[in-house]
Amino acid sequence: MALHDVSDWLESIGLGRYAPLFREQEIDHEALLQLNEADLKGLGLPLGPRRLILSRLSQNSRAINGSTGFRQASNDVTIDTTISANPLPASAERRRIAIAFFDMVDSTPLAVRLDPEELLDVTQRFLERVRTAILRYDGYVARYLGDGILAFFGWPEAFEDQAERAARAALDSVAAVRALQFESGLQLDVRVGIATGLVVVGDHGHRGSDVSGDTPNRAQRLQSMASPGQIVIDRATQVACASNIATQSLGSMSAKGFPEPLAVWTVDGVARTGEMDESSPDTLTPFVGREHEFGMLQDRWETVKSGEGQLMLLTGEAGIGKSRLVKMLQSHLAGEAHTLVRLQCVDYQVGSAFYPIAQFFRDLAQITTGDDDAEQRRKLEASTLEKFAATPKDIDLIAQLVLRVDPRVSLSFTSADDAYDQVVDAIIGLVHRAAAAGPLLIVVEDAHWIDPSTEDVLRELASCLDGLPIMLLVAKRPGWQFPGPVHTPPTEITLNRVTRDQALEIAAANGGDGLGRSLVRAIVERAGGVPLYVEELTKAMVQSPDKQELPDSVQSLFVARLDSLGQDKELAQVLSVLGRSFDRRFIEAVNDNADLDESLQRIETSGLVVRQGSGAKAVYGFKHALIQEVAYETLLLSARRQVHSRVADVLLTDFADVAKRQPEIAALHLSRSERHEEAAACFLEAGQRFASHSAHIEAVEQYKGGLRSLGMTPQTQTRDGAELDLRIGLGASLLMKEGWSAPEVEENYDVALKLSRHTSDNRKLFVALRGQANVHFLKGELRKTRSIVEQLIAMAEDDRSEDLLIEAYRSNGMCSVHEAEFERAVEYLTRAHDIYDPVRHAGLKFTYGTDPGVVGMSGLSWAHWLMGNHETAESYRDRAVALGKELDHPFSLIYAEGFAACLAQFKQDAALAMTHAESVISMSEEHDYPYWTGWGRLVRGWAIAVQGDRSAGLAELAEGIATYSSTGATQILPYAAFLVRNAGLKLGRSADSPSDTDESGAIYTDRSESRFFQALKIGG
Ligand SMILES: Nc1ncnc2c1ncn2[C@@H]1O[C@H](COP(=O)(O)OP(=O)(O)OP(=O)(O)O)[C@@H](O)[C@H]1O
Ligand SMILES: [Mg+2]
Repeated sequence: MALHDVSDWLESIGLGRYAPLFREQEIDHEALLQLNEADLKGLGLPLGPRRLILSRLSQNSRAINGSTGFRQASNDVTIDTTISANPLPASAERRRIAIAFFDMVDSTPLAVRLDPEELLDVTQRFLERVRTAILRYDGYVARYLGDGILAFFGWPEAFEDQAERAARAALDSVAAVRALQFESGLQLDVRVGIATGLVVVGDHGHRGSDVSGDTPNRAQRLQSMASPGQIVIDRATQVACASNIATQSLGSMSAKGFPEPLAVWTVDGVARTGEMDESSPDTLTPFVGREHEFGMLQDRWETVKSGEGQLMLLTGEAGIGKSRLVKMLQSHLAGEAHTLVRLQCVDYQVGSAFYPIAQFFRDLAQITTGDDDAEQRRKLEASTLEKFAATPKDIDLIAQLVLRVDPRVSLSFTSADDAYDQVVDAIIGLVHRAAAAGPLLIVVEDAHWIDPSTEDVLRELASCLDGLPIMLLVAKRPGWQFPGPVHTPPTEITLNRVTRDQALEIAAANGGDGLGRSLVRAIVERAGGVPLYVEELTKAMVQSPDKQELPDSVQSLFVARLDSLGQDKELAQVLSVLGRSFDRRFIEAVNDNADLDESLQRIETSGLVVRQGSGAKAVYGFKHALIQEVAYETLLLSARRQVHSRVADVLLTDFADVAKRQPEIAALHLSRSERHEEAAACFLEAGQRFASHSAHIEAVEQYKGGLRSLGMTPQTQTRDGAELDLRIGLGASLLMKEGWSAPEVEENYDVALKLSRHTSDNRKLFVALRGQANVHFLKGELRKTRSIVEQLIAMAEDDRSEDLLIEAYRSNGMCSVHEAEFERAVEYLTRAHDIYDPVRHAGLKFTYGTDPGVVGMSGLSWAHWLMGNHETAESYRDRAVALGKELDHPFSLIYAEGFAACLAQFKQDAALAMTHAESVISMSEEHDYPYWTGWGRLVRGWAIAVQGDRSAGLAELAEGIATYSSTGATQILPYAAFLVRNAGLKLGRSADSPSDTDESGAIYTDRSESRFFQALKIGG
């Protein structure tokens, strides 16, 4: 194609005015096909024409199959009645798209009746009509199937409104096919089925297998349900297009191959602009926040009324609340005399001159599809006369516009035409006349999709606002600039994200109330302050709480934005695998793209990704967590696995320091690349690291991740060994998180014990046994505990290692304390204490959860006290607390303080008991250890009661008991019951006087065999 062909082509899409520019830049056919967004921007083209050119180019390049001529391909239909899939890009994707199936009605009888040549002509003309309708809405003709067409909306290019586009294309095709005239008088009809859903689309490597998933089948079934000229759609399509398309339910119908009946709707037509919105004001989320912005609009409206025109630009990302704010202003003005002009720009109409204006008049006149030209004109006359005092000439021009707004007729005004200037002048004239009658609010919605002609009108309008009561309020996403220059500088209002509290309000208004706090918080977190996402995510969660999938509305918004990245999309997908943020060096290592910097720059410019720092130190992050999710979701599972695997390799080799510091990252990538054994090893490392920082919740997650990974591997001895390591780690962290006697802890040690019986590693068997002893111990099952303790001692003495001896002796000592065998307790705890060295045995606290030094001395303090050696007891207590502080191990310190609180209770020193108890409570609440919170509160309850406030004290004691028992532990409940009695007695009651305390006493005493407190005298 030569240069003049490019001019023709530009002309054909309504952009003839740019032809000289293209000629000047020597853009021929080849160059044209190479143009990208940046080039067009460099040429100085506004957003609308840029979008239009790129969209038409992508359609054409799809249609021409690479080699045939450009013009020829856009005009002729080549039908391959077998299967003619378009060439597909190499990288297939997972996507939610709308799939439409068009089929000719009664084609078989026709084939019998008609001469083959005639049949071919009929079929070709039919297909051409359908194809034109599909392309008009940027659909993709995926296959010709005899006399049918399978089309995609949302791939290869995604659109926010793909379901609506499919529905519109279907409506147009029905009309266009019916309008076909044949000499024979033949009348054709089409049936259409549209389904929306997840597919894998692209080149799978086999010929023709370009789409998979059940959506195409569904579309075909829906098509077969349709009567001639009918369009039948599924639920997902209906939900997605319902705001602009009129649909009607047909109920549920069963379809071959689908186990459940399908809920189906018909598409009846296009709703009037804003009609759906107006009809349901009650369903709107109550307006939240934006006081300042709304106040500003109200202020400026006052100025407008006094005759000073205002140009207001309302900027913000998709879904942030621009339209909502505009609606607020509209309802605020509802009681005031004014004229409202609402111009709605639409993305697939950027090539249609004056589209929003024509649509406005069409809606104003309430023209419907059934109206013939005369009727349309009559309606237009009436409405424009009334509202705008239009002259006959105005009406002529408007009628021209409106008649052309029918999407089947492309508007081809160019700015060089006289008619064009006349239209612009007429519109400006109408506005002036309306303004003379009273204040005028002109809302331009979604100006980023404005067509160049309407843009001209805006420019004209903005230059004549002075002295007129007009507010020109333009809502737009960032990127589009108001076509300057303007006399009065516009007032810009930028809408930013809403606050967390406001987001919570929006979630609550959308049914979030019923979801529970943590779920709503998670939604709000994910939505990142964009009201639309809050609403959609909440609604999706309310509808199907188990489904994690992003709602279509949010998904297609982001897929469309990703698609606008063109060739850089692939990089964005790789980035999504890296996480929410990533540093430059890492990206480079994972991605061998030669123009990495340029690509990153473009992605950054698109606003999808933000950067901090520069050069090699730059750190990038997705602007929104949802963008990352969507980019990730579009990747095929196999591609995801590959990228994760690459990332893991880079981490383990080039970034070994990071992998060491944060093994959880390597673990994640390895597990997602299904390298399960390596993953399990990293999970173990990560768990141990977290545990060593007392981050037990995180540690538990990691250990469990490791167990999941191992679950995917065949059972071998090595595997069992790895599982045992994970379970030993998990046990220690779980008991911090869940309490010592939680069923999960018990189960974990049961499995660990089974596994350890098959290993030759006695130490692991020891740890597992020790864990199980602990579970019994904390339930107060002292006989069971003792039998295991005896085994532990035998094993340790056999092994002779210090670690095992310390643990075996301390277990024996602590069990003895509760058995009220204080001498034996002192003997064994002292033995353990004598071997213990805080430095050499520092690791034990991570294996068993508590430091043996602290536990040993705490136990010794009790045993000595209960034997009557009070001074020795207090000295051990002080040393235990001091060591606890020194170790920087919260769980050990809490232990020492918990024992100290009881020691003060043994002494009947309520004030001291209170101090220690408070310290236990505050630390355990901070770290979320309910076991110790319960322990602290029951001692505090006792202290409160004996200090005089008996009922408050007993209430606190009861709370403490409840919290303590909630962890599954029962060990010290008899002691708690003793405290209840003791508190009552201190206040002058006798030990067996009937009171509310007896009941609780009776409940708790018989569960545990612990009896150390019997050495204490009731009453001190
Ligand atoms: N302040 C608010 N209070 C309550 N709901 C809000 C608020 N702002 C927005 N919403 C809700 O969030 C959704 C998205 O808002 P809206 O349609 O106004 O976004 P927008 O900025 O116009 O997006 P787009 O660029 O896609 O047109 C709507 O359902 C709207 O009701
Ligand atoms: Mg909007």
